[in-house]
Amino acid sequence: MLSVSELGKTYPSGERALHDVSMEVAGKEIVSIIGPSGAGKSTMIRCINRLTEPTEGSIVLDGRDVTGLSGKELQTARREMGMIFQEFNLVERLTVMENVLSGTLGYLSTWNAFRRNYQGEDVERAYEVLDRVGMAGRENARADELSGGQRQRVGIARAVLQRPKIILADEPTSALDPETSRAVMDLLTEISRDEDIPVLINIHEVELAREYAERIVGLREGEVVFEGPPEELDSDARNVIYRGAEPASPTVVAQEKTGVSISEVDKETSF
Ligand SMILES: Nc1ncnc2c1ncn2[C@@H]1O[C@H](COP(=O)(O)OP(=O)(O)O)[C@@H](O)[C@H]1O
Ligand SMILES: [Mg+2]
Repeated sequence: MLSVSELGKTYPSGERALHDVSMEVAGKEIVSIIGPSGAGKSTMIRCINRLTEPTEGSIVLDGRDVTGLSGKELQTARREMGMIFQEFNLVERLTVMENVLSGTLGYLSTWNAFRRNYQGEDVERAYEVLDRVGMAGRENARADELSGGQRQRVGIARAVLQRPKIILADEPTSALDPETSRAVMDLLTEISRDEDIPVLINIHEVELAREYAERIVGLREGEVVFEGPPEELDSDARNVIYRGAEPASPTVVAQEKTGVSISEVDKETSF
């Protein structure tokens, strides 16, 4: 579904935020990108939806290379990626319904969204989606009346309404308490299954990533230093990701050098 190849990003300041990052997200899996602050997690997501321009590499979503797109085509591609943000990015003075409906407009300005005449079918679906995220009955509440958890539910509803092919979430729980964080992760998991779409989620709480992700990608200083299922994220792997330790575990070494998992290496090397 999503294929990132040799992605690089150097900011105009000279800061190299990503270097030679390759990864795939398939089917309806939940993939989590973890790593310390400054590792490049947000840059990665922003490159995928082209809120930031990558300086190297390519991004292919559902067979379409989004790297070179501009104008209308870029807007269409972005609509295929439902974005969920750490700080929710709702328009505080608008209602829940108005915020959710703005999801049908992709990345148009709020003012355009506000003035737009929504289609009846969008409104109908918005009711359904709000019900789906547990916000039925709150359609006319203003965003600024809601708790953090409720705001993120509205953020998720907005993303779902645009019928995305993938959901990209940038630390969607880091402004929430642990219990609410889990509720939001549960909801994202259900949405992924129901809508049959993958979720790529930046997360800094390792435990949440381990619990919810089917695959984890560890970034350190803009490079992939771990890739595998949660069970393989042992303390050595964590040290490599978070403390900058040299890879000690054979799994990490194998993946870093060759991009294949240790089980495949085993097959090759055991005679
Ligand atoms: N707009 C920007 N201009 C220059 N450097 C940036 C910009 N955004 C992020 N960076 C730098 O890129 C690196 C990765 O940042 P970021 O992607 O935000 O990491 P994370 O989300 O993992 O904390 C950091 O060193 C950060 O300072
Ligand atoms: Mg970030």
